[in-house]
Amino acid sequence: MTTIAAKADAASILGAAAVLDKKREQQYREELKARDKQIEILSDRLDAMKSSRWSIPLSRRKNSKSGRPYIRVIVPDSHGCYIDSIPLSAMLQDFEALDIREVVLLGDHLDCSGFLAKHHRQNYIKQAKYTFEQDIDGCNDFLDKVQARCPRATFHYLEGNHERRLETWCIDQSLKEIADAEWLLKQVGAKSVLNIEKRGLNYYKQGQKYMGLELPCTIKLGHCYFTHGEYCGVGAARRTLQKFGGNVVFGHTHTASEASLKTVDQGVMKAWCVGCLCELQPMYLHGQVSDWSHGYGVQIAQDDGSFLQLTIPLIDGKSYLIGMGKQFT
Ligand SMILES: [Fe+2]
Repeated sequence: MTTIAAKADAASILGAAAVLDKKREQQYREELKARDKQIEILSDRLDAMKSSRWSIPLSRRKNSKSGRPYIRVIVPDSHGCYIDSIPLSAMLQDFEALDIREVVLLGDHLDCSGFLAKHHRQNYIKQAKYTFEQDIDGCNDFLDKVQARCPRATFHYLEGNHERRLETWCIDQSLKEIADAEWLLKQVGAKSVLNIEKRGLNYYKQGQKYMGLELPCTIKLGHCYFTHGEYCGVGAARRTLQKFGGNVVFGHTHTASEASLKTVDQGVMKAWCVGCLCELQPMYLHGQVSDWSHGYGVQIAQDDGSFLQLTIPLIDGKSYLIGMGKQFT
């Protein structure tokens, strides 16, 4: 009897323990479930904190009503026979690949040295390397080559200070007799010796104003002015920009540079000098190393006047527009 009772007690204890274990297990499961739920909530909250609560409003690109963009090129100082044929070749190769609608020649495409530059002291025999006749031939050949590669383009030729020497010479020779000076200029002026009319180029003289602008020999195409330039040195781009108060491309300094300015009225505007095409170290600089650089300009322009300005460096006979771009095609 005692044994039977003891067995029954043990069974009863085991049964009670099993019930207790089940309850605890259930309790643990519920606790685990509650914690999982809490983790899920906290995780969602963390994700929400990581994502931005700022929404930056983006505007859609305005569709231009001005049709397809077109190419305008800007050709800087080449200086007659003092042109460097290596960068010239690179630039002309680019022109063959571009469908150019407008060409702006920034002036100083005749050098007019020698007797036309008697205000300059000649120090070296080599400075008298080319005759005026050779200078003219050199410039005509340059214009022939550029025009051949831009057969459908409108040309704008801005007179530089070097072409201006011809008018100065005519006035000097005619002893300031206006009629004689004008007659002389018709015979030997840049328009005549470069066959400007026959070539169909628009020619802008240094002594005349155009397009209602305040500065002589300056034009405006779209939202950009073009001028030969007057200032020299490191601050030439900034000074030009301050005087123009608008986007402007110029030559004259032979050094590629640019400046940017923002005004309350006009917003952001820029000035660019695109370099030159002539020899980089002229004799008259003596031992002074020039900062000059070879290059030219490209504008991707639209009829509404807007444009993208690119200054194309020409280094070691290579254009950094198409010459470099080809390596990625
Ligand atoms: Fe020049």
